[in-house]
Amino acid sequence: MSAQPQPGAACRPMTLHDLDAVVAIETRAYEFPWTRGNFIDSLAAGYLAERLEGPTGETIGYFVAMPGVDELHLLNITVAPALQGRGHGGLLLGEVVQRARALHLGAIWLEVRASNERAHRLYRRHGYVEIGLRRGYYPAAGRREDAVVMKLALAAADGAGA
Ligand SMILES: CC(C)(COP(=O)(O)OP(=O)(O)OC[C@H]1O[C@@H](n2cnc3c(N)ncnc32)[C@H](O)[C@@H]1OP(=O)(O)O)[C@@H](O)C(=O)NCCC(=O)NCCS
Repeated sequence: MSAQPQPGAACRPMTLHDLDAVVAIETRAYEFPWTRGNFIDSLAAGYLAERLEGPTGETIGYFVAMPGVDELHLLNITVAPALQGRGHGGLLLGEVVQRARALHLGAIWLEVRASNERAHRLYRRHGYVEIGLRRGYYPAAGRREDAVVMKLALAAADGAGA
């Protein structure tokens, strides 16, 4: 792959006005997408929610994360399918790290489908390590799928993902 991230792409807070674009990406990116209601609930709860915006205001991707006492739980990170593989996921992960540091949180953790190799690789490349397995965590066609739990300890993350 040789394509680069969109020049001038920058993270902005996600608001209700962004949800048409966000939900359109979400439904293209996942077989079992979040609903609009999931995003509305996350914004209402005050979770961290940002979108990666391109130079003409278009939504490239986004993340939603729930701050806890000492950790940030990354609930959703998604890049528009047509713009994947150019470093946008890495940009979003870097922003997640910056936000967690600004909140003085010690770690970031997430669940990822056991079959989602691309996301696994991205997280590993950014310093996340596997810390557990949740059996049957995700819906899947006619069955359930395991989630791998991954964690990034921020003290060990200097230079990774930023
Ligand atoms: C997982 C996801 C967020 C990653 O986003 P992305 O923008 O594709 O991620 P990146 O481009 O930063 O990295 C992906 C690949 O592109 C490569 N890449 C990154 N920047 C690049 C560049 N400038 N030039 C060439 N290749 C590049 C990376 O090396 C990486 O390769 P690898 O997967 O073989 O290791 C995205 O694929 C996605 O939205 N998937 C569907 C939803 C999903 O699964 N979300 C995660 C749920 S846990």
